[in-house]
Amino acid sequence: MTNRPQTVLVTGASSGLGAAIAAGLTAGGYRVVGTSRQPRGDGGAIPMVAMDVDDDASVAMAIGQVVALVGRIDAVVNNAGFGIAGAIEDTTSDEAGAQMCTNFLGTHRVCRAVLPLMRAQGGGRIVNVSSLAGIVPLPFQAFYSASKFAVEAYSEALRIEAKPFGIHVSMIEPGDYATGFTAHRRMTTASNSASPYHARVSRAVAIMARDEQANRDLGPVVATVRRALEAATPKLRYPTATAAQRILVALKPFLPDAIVEKLLTSTYEAG
Ligand SMILES: NC(=O)c1ccc[n+]([C@@H]2O[C@H](COP(=O)([O-])OP(=O)(O)OC[C@H]3O[C@@H](n4cnc5c(N)ncnc54)[C@H](OP(=O)(O)O)[C@@H]3O)[C@@H](O)[C@H]2O)c1
Repeated sequence: MTNRPQTVLVTGASSGLGAAIAAGLTAGGYRVVGTSRQPRGDGGAIPMVAMDVDDDASVAMAIGQVVALVGRIDAVVNNAGFGIAGAIEDTTSDEAGAQMCTNFLGTHRVCRAVLPLMRAQGGGRIVNVSSLAGIVPLPFQAFYSASKFAVEAYSEALRIEAKPFGIHVSMIEPGDYATGFTAHRRMTTASNSASPYHARVSRAVAIMARDEQANRDLGPVVATVRRALEAATPKLRYPTATAAQRILVALKPFLPDAIVEKLLTSTYEAG
């Protein structure tokens, strides 16, 4: 237990990846506190605190409660998030803003609340949950992709800013995993049969949902978070995805844009 944090806050621990990460870390001997907008029951072995990452006051109150509960926050896994789908033309600025408010600014709210504590403690670890969609943007999930691109830029900058305080910043970049993400996905209001994009959006989102639900083993995500928490010198990025997805991500900077475009078009618009 020498080179690793003891107390870990996992946001969005009521479902999916967050629940698996919280359970996996607890089983590995960490003291974990999870968050949810509406925590139910006593959370069993994992105490749950109410936190809406869309709301500054809710985040501040939750961080205070976590510190009162476990004394300190050595590490944070910024996992809370959701996906919005629909054509760009069919997305209002309010719908786009809601996506950025949770996935990007939610991460920022939590970081701003824990950074002073970590500085005072002399160090800490922040693991932001990005996505492969934060590297390869997906058609009809433009604002989800943009929110994760924002998390990527933010994490790169924060890593440099926080390093002199002994605070390590990393990202995990999951591919497709079967979680509540598919059922919780919001379609934009104008994504209906009157939209000129309707058939294409429906097909693409069905393919995305199929791919997400096909991968039921969340173990690699938990193991990846542990690698980020336990590495003596944590890396900036930890992709966790199928071999094919990882190869595409690794090759993307070297491939002509037209090839990447063709691959994405054939994946989400074929047949
Ligand atoms: N599943 C995938 O294939 C995949 C791939 C790449 C990245 N990711 C990322 O992984 C993270 C977790 O998603 P998941 O797949 O596990 O989906 P999920 O099963 O739907 O879980 C989402 C979690 O986020 C919480 N949440 C959502 N909005 C929130 C808000 N405003 N404030 C606080 N908590 C909020 C939910 O808690 P409550 O509803 O209880 O508040 C829930 O615990 C997300 O950042 C997602 O973008 C997922």
